[in-house]
Amino acid sequence: MHRATTGRTLGLAVGLATALAGTGAQAQTAEVLHYWTSGGEARAVAALQEEFEAAGGTWVDAPVAGGGGDAQATVLRSRVLAGDPPTAVQIKGPNIHDWAAEGVLANLDAVAAEAGWDDILPPLLRDIVTYDDQYVAVPVNIHRVNWLWINPEVLAEVGAEVPTTWDEFNATADALLEAGITPLAHGGQPWQDATVFETVVLGLGGPDFYRQALVELDADALTSDTMIAVFDQMRRITGYVDPNFPGRDWNLATGMVMNGEAAMQIMGDWAKGEFAASELTPDEDYLCVPTPGTSGFVLNSDSFAFFEVEGDDRVAGQDLLAGLILGESFQETFNLFKGSIPARTDLDRSAFDACAVRSMEDLDSAVAEGSLVPSMAHEIAIGRAPRGAFLDVVTQHFNSDMSSQEAVELLLEEVELAM
Ligand code: BGC
Repeated sequence: MHRATTGRTLGLAVGLATALAGTGAQAQTAEVLHYWTSGGEARAVAALQEEFEAAGGTWVDAPVAGGGGDAQATVLRSRVLAGDPPTAVQIKGPNIHDWAAEGVLANLDAVAAEAGWDDILPPLLRDIVTYDDQYVAVPVNIHRVNWLWINPEVLAEVGAEVPTTWDEFNATADALLEAGITPLAHGGQPWQDATVFETVVLGLGGPDFYRQALVELDADALTSDTMIAVFDQMRRITGYVDPNFPGRDWNLATGMVMNGEAAMQIMGDWAKGEFAASELTPDEDYLCVPTPGTSGFVLNSDSFAFFEVEGDDRVAGQDLLAGLILGESFQETFNLFKGSIPARTDLDRSAFDACAVRSMEDLDSAVAEGSLVPSMAHEIAIGRAPRGAFLDVVTQHFNSDMSSQEAVELLLEEVELAM
C-alpha cells in the first residue's frame, strides 16, 4: 500500500499544498466520482470542492445522476474493470469492505493517525470504514433514514396531528385523500420504495425484528406475520401516492411537500438539504419527525474511498482530500448543506438546526437503548445482492396487485438465491 511504504503523512501533504501552491511543483489532483446532483447535494459537494481547491488541489468532478447511487455503482464497477478507477469515490457500508477485499483500495492509516481519526470517530463509523484494522475510507456524515417530512399547513387543512403510529398515519392519509390532497409525495424508484419499506419494518416490527429480517436475513422473520403486516401497510401506502409517482426523483417529491402539492414524504435527511437550499426553516415551514412507530435510528453514512492509482499528483490529491473531510469547519458547513449530521461526535451543536440536533440526540439514545439499526435500502446493512432482492420484491409488490403472502414467499426465495 503506497502510503504505508512511503511514510506519507497528512502534515506532509498539507505542508506541500501550502509551500507549493502556485509553483505547480507538486500537483494534487482528485477525480471525484459521486451522485450528489440535487440542489442540496450539489451545494454540499461544492463545499468540498472549494475546500480542496483552497488547499491547492485540482478537482475533477465526475457526477453520475441517480439517487441512492445505483447508477454510480455500475459506472464504478466498469471503470475498475477497465483499469481506470477514479481517485476518490463516494461509497458505503459493505461495499467498502468488498472493494477492500479485492485489494484495490488505498490504505489511509497515515492520514488517519495524523488527524487522530481513532479519537474523533464513533465506533459505529470506524467499523464501516476500516478493513483488517486499516482505514480504507473516510466517513463524511451520518444520515438518518427514518424521517417523515411534513408540510404543517397542509396537515392543518384536515385538522390532523402529526402521526406517530402507522394507524394514525393511515387515518391522517385517509382524511387527506377525502379532502382531495395527495397524502404522500413519493418517487417510484426501487431504492425509494425500499426506503419506505424499511421504515415500515422498523415501525411495525421494532429494532430486533428489523435486525432479524433485514440484517440477518432470517427465514422465519422474512415470512412472519409481522412481515405480512409490513406488506399490508405497503399496500395501503400505494393508495396514498399520486398517479405520477413512477420514476419520479426523490428531490421532486420533496418539492411537492414544500409547495403544498402533498402533505408528507418519507425520506432520509438528505431531503432536509432541499428544504435548506430553499431557505426554509424546520419547525416553521416544515416538520421533521421520526417515521410512524419509530424512536430508533436507521443509520446511513456516506464515505469516500480512494482507489490505488498511479501518479504522484493523484496520490497527493487523495491524501489532501482524505485529510480535509473530517476537518471541524468543513464538517459543519458540509453537513448543514447535506442535511446530515457530522461524522465526528465532538463538534459544538450550536450551529445546527432543530432537525439536526434532534438527529444527534436520537442517535445518542438509540445507541444507548440498542435501537440503532443499519439501513438496508442505503447499503449499510447488507451487500448488493441481497439488497437487490429486497428492492426487486418491494418494487414488484408496490407496482402490482401482489398479495402480502405472495410477497413474503418471493422475498424468501430471492433473498436465499442472493446469499
Ligand atoms: C445517500 C445520500 C444521497 C441520497 C440520495 C443516499 O443513499 O447516502 O448521500 O443524498 O442517497 O441520492
